[in-house]
Amino acid sequence: MEQTAKKNTGAARDKRQKLVDATMRRHGHSTYALIETLHSIQEVYGYLDDDNLRYVAHALRVPLSKVYGVATFYHFFTLKPKGEHTCVVCTGTACYIKGVPAIFKEIKNKYSVNPGETTEDGKISVLTARCIGSCGLAPAVVLDGEIAGKVTPDEVVERIGRLI
Ligand code: FES
Repeated sequence: MEQTAKKNTGAARDKRQKLVDATMRRHGHSTYALIETLHSIQEVYGYLDDDNLRYVAHALRVPLSKVYGVATFYHFFTLKPKGEHTCVVCTGTACYIKGVPAIFKEIKNKYSVNPGETTEDGKISVLTARCIGSCGLAPAVVLDGEIAGKVTPDEVVERIGRLI
């Protein structure tokens, strides 16, 4: 199973980027697309990180300061969380019905952390995304940017253990 996920990592990552690009295209790459694009990034990546904010600033031709201004002004946006590592769990329908609640339960058992929180030692932040565009790999998680598909709860905690 892990092999399938690894093989698909590149493609899956592209899919997330494609979803973000599609949002910008839909809005004609206008600066008005900024908020929609930030929403789109958060939906597929779980949070807004520096690389993506720079990418959007460049693509929409708006100053990076403005992008950061918008990203920090609205409470519904989450900037890269404070944990040393991130585990984004996709909670879209396909992933959810294929076992996301059990994944959260196992993460909580092992690391005492809920979705949206960071462990007390600051090692790992657990986040959610709405659909990372890889429903064929459900349930899917993204660990430090690397997508793992068709994961079991045990695999997720084991992979987190390897990161920290
Ligand atoms: S619902 Fe999880 S990748 Fe689409």
